[in-house]
Amino acid sequence: MRLKGKVALITGAGSGMGRAASVLFAREGAKVAAIDVTEASAAETARMIKAAGGEAISIRADVSDSEDARAMVEGTVRAFGGLDVLYNNAGIEGESGFIAQLSEEAFDRVIAINLRGVWLGMKYGLPRIVERGGGAVINTASVAGIVGLKGAAAYCAAKAGVISLTRVAALEYGRYNVRVNCICPGVIHTPMVDRITGPEGLQPKFIQRNSVLGRVGSADEIALVFTKNKGAIDAMYARALRDNPALQGKVVIELTIAPSGDITAARVVSSELKDPEFESKLVARIKLFKFDAKDVAALTATKPIDFFPAG
Ligand SMILES: NC(=O)c1ccc[n+]([C@@H]2O[C@H](COP(=O)([O-])OP(=O)(O)OC[C@H]3O[C@@H](n4cnc5c(N)ncnc54)[C@H](O)[C@@H]3O)[C@@H](O)[C@H]2O)c1
Repeated sequence: MRLKGKVALITGAGSGMGRAASVLFAREGAKVAAIDVTEASAAETARMIKAAGGEAISIRADVSDSEDARAMVEGTVRAFGGLDVLYNNAGIEGESGFIAQLSEEAFDRVIAINLRGVWLGMKYGLPRIVERGGGAVINTASVAGIVGLKGAAAYCAAKAGVISLTRVAALEYGRYNVRVNCICPGVIHTPMVDRITGPEGLQPKFIQRNSVLGRVGSADEIALVFTKNKGAIDAMYARALRDNPALQGKVVIELTIAPSGDITAARVVSSELKDPEFESKLVARIKLFKFDAKDVAALTATKPIDFFPAG
């Protein structure tokens, strides 16, 4: 139990990644304050945790409202005696539209929830974490905060802002023993993505265009990032690659592996995918993989490694 006795406040806990993290953090021993603007969904998450033997409360709060943000932190501290982990996850996709078409209200709403909400969470949450002698903050940004997406100006700007806020908070509060990180998920299959893809659902073309792995992630995988160690995350990538039928037997990539297990070079030798952009993303992702040093010792200079065994 990696979070035994810790108090975790999670916003947007009524759905998707927030719910998955709430359930997993509780399973790891945390007392969870499930926060959501939709009261019933937060209550359902707390019920799920309690039904599994965990400890949880739910609080309705709109993270963009300063009074609500203050009250969610104070309510958590009142219920559990303090705060150790603040996970600012709540967010909306907002309306889609080119810059000149997007209304001012639509822009302001996304910035208010996705950016101001994260700042307010930290404004009221950080002093409480400092009081405990330290803890951790996780902010949810997105790959959209690193690259541009057409039709998503407010979302991209807000998520880039979250990355920046995270850097500043880490600098300001590191000395108080608070780790501040943000995550930048790619496409994760949650109700948000269902709303974006609409009645057509997740089409292979959408997945191929938006995902390095050729598949979407699951909310549980994101939750696992915080509770498992680095080795488990690497294993997760490897599993994702292995389990992808679209890739099996279709690409041969030559790897140069250092004795440490790091991949120092990778290049596509042959491919049936006929998608150079996807192949280069795949190579970039494979280069992040690290082999176990003992497995490297067993490799011969030219031994093929089947990343995608058929069947
Ligand atoms: N799903 C993806 O592919 C993806 C990728 C990158 C980043 N993200 C980000 O991850 C986070 C979680 O997204 P998800 O996919 O689980 O979405 P989701 O829609 O399934 O869940 C979001 C939750 O946030 C809540 N929420 C919305 N506005 C709120 C507010 N003002 N105050 C409090 N709660 C509010 C919603 O009620 C909902 O329960 C968001 O910040 C999103 O931008 C999602």
